[in-house]
Amino acid sequence: MFGQVPIDLSQVKEENIDKEILRTAIIAELDAINVYEQMAARSKNTDLKIVLMDIANEEKTHMGEFLELLLRLDPQQVKELAEGKGEIEELLGK
Ligand SMILES: [Fe+2]
Repeated sequence: MFGQVPIDLSQVKEENIDKEILRTAIIAELDAINVYEQMAARSKNTDLKIVLMDIANEEKTHMGEFLELLLRLDPQQVKELAEGKGEIEELLGK
């Protein structure tokens, strides 16, 4: 988990700042999903498990929001995302 932004934004070119912020936000959301799922798996309290898993799912929505914004700012990422999908389909035959 991040206590602070793990990149020095003062070193980032102006045109890349928002993309780097969005990538960092995506990492933070993915990390949050793992943390909530791990805590839910460890707890024996049913109510707490339900709430933790609900919040984990909300984090997935947050990740999707940041990803959507990133894709609007980074056309190369859109291209590479499609490329990755194609490679997996080709590799796995589906
Ligand atoms: Fe979140």
